[in-house]
Amino acid sequence: MVRRVFIETFGCQMNEVDSGRILTLLGGLGYLQVTDRDEADLILLNTCSIREKASHKVYSAIGALRGWKGHRKGRILAIGGCLAQEAGDEIRRRAPYVDIVFGTHNIASLPEMIRNAETRRRKSVSVEMTGDTRHWDILPCLPEGSVGTMVTIMQGCENYCAYCIVPFVRGPEVSRPAGEIISEIRALSEKGVREVLLLGQNVNSYGKKEGEIAFHRLLRRISDIDGIDRIRFITSHPRDLDEPTIGLFGDLDKLCPHVHLPIQAGSDRILAAMGRGYTREVYLSKVDALRAMRPDIAFSTDFIVGFPGETEDDFRRTIEVMEFVRYDYCFSFKYSPRAGTAAASMDGAASPGDADDRLQRLLALQDLHTAQRLEGMIGKTVEVLVEKPSSRDASRLFGRTGCYKAVNFSSKPGSDPNPFRQVLVEKAGAHSLSGKEA
Ligand code: SAH
Ligand code: SF4
Ligand code: F3S
Repeated sequence: MVRRVFIETFGCQMNEVDSGRILTLLGGLGYLQVTDRDEADLILLNTCSIREKASHKVYSAIGALRGWKGHRKGRILAIGGCLAQEAGDEIRRRAPYVDIVFGTHNIASLPEMIRNAETRRRKSVSVEMTGDTRHWDILPCLPEGSVGTMVTIMQGCENYCAYCIVPFVRGPEVSRPAGEIISEIRALSEKGVREVLLLGQNVNSYGKKEGEIAFHRLLRRISDIDGIDRIRFITSHPRDLDEPTIGLFGDLDKLCPHVHLPIQAGSDRILAAMGRGYTREVYLSKVDALRAMRPDIAFSTDFIVGFPGETEDDFRRTIEVMEFVRYDYCFSFKYSPRAGTAAASMDGAASPGDADDRLQRLLALQDLHTAQRLEGMIGKTVEVLVEKPSSRDASRLFGRTGCYKAVNFSSKPGSDPNPFRQVLVEKAGAHSLSGKEA
């Protein structure tokens, strides 16, 4: 009997790639993916708890599924990911109608849990941090025609930045053997993938614990794989981004000229309180070194405003860093206390009003910088890797440049199987470029 699954993914790329694996596993159990909840026999939420807002969003999504679950007998509701890991008991208390709660280390056990729910109607919870990495062997489901995809190179984090829940919900850092990563990427290239995004919470410390090859060596080996033309990675920790890796930006053509380098704050006092392990000077010197290697390199970052103890003067230093780097884009957040983290017991978080005010000023400046960086591309011819038809106008195409700018463009008449196109940039929008095939 064909069964149907609806999956919703919250949070970051780690969850996206895990959802891809879950779909592969469910495919093996005979489940077809659907986009309409009402058709589903199984709804699975892969959750995030990075900030309070993220957790709230998940709880309200679970609450909204109460009716769905009660509507027909035999429907299964499964909650996985970081909130499930952090608060499995709380989820079951608030929503006793949930059938399955599984943590970030229990993905490989999911088929068994689902079978149990299907046949014996038994509820199950599996949130042990077992260090299980069997899920690495499950290839995330790859939609037909994909030219780019994500590849896990490590899991977990041991940095314990004072504000961050990730080490608690993803567990200790473990790197995947280089040989497995290479084989996965070779297999992807045979399926037509041209761009890979290497995933880990701190890719620059890849392999250190295990005595694996260093991250820069891994990048070289991946660059030797035929058919792979673009390599990206996230996330780089500014403390651990080393000289050999920076040097590769002047050396490996396949390495895309874009680095996401989360600074969090521009004040050394706040960086120290966050336990980030670098000063603003060290951070900026790495930005300079990368620009020396690739003058066209794009930068993006993450900011937290209102961390405990952040004064107006500290915040001004964040603005100074923005003026210096001129990021192409950023993700910015108001500090949100997470239970169990070091910062949760620190005093002096900015008042909601001050935090809001800082966030608005930061966003206004970023909008200006984003616009300037995009306008700077007008008149240039850029190489775009085409992903799909444009969402606004299906006669046009959508793709990204090496520096990760979104581009919508009209292609030349006739069909061209090459997913890489040369595009003349004619206009800049608020977040994307527009042009025509050159
Ligand atoms: N490993 C990555 C980040 C993972 S979390 C890194 O080291 O940068 C993604 C982003 O969420 C962080 O960079 C941070 O800006 C933000 N974040 C994490 N915890 C937060 C909290 N408690 N409050 C507000 N923002 C937070
Ligand atoms: Fe969180 Fe810090 Fe680890 Fe990033 S490096 S996941 S911010 S603890
Ligand atoms: Fe990612 Fe959210 Fe977990 S940001 S690691 S899904 S807490």
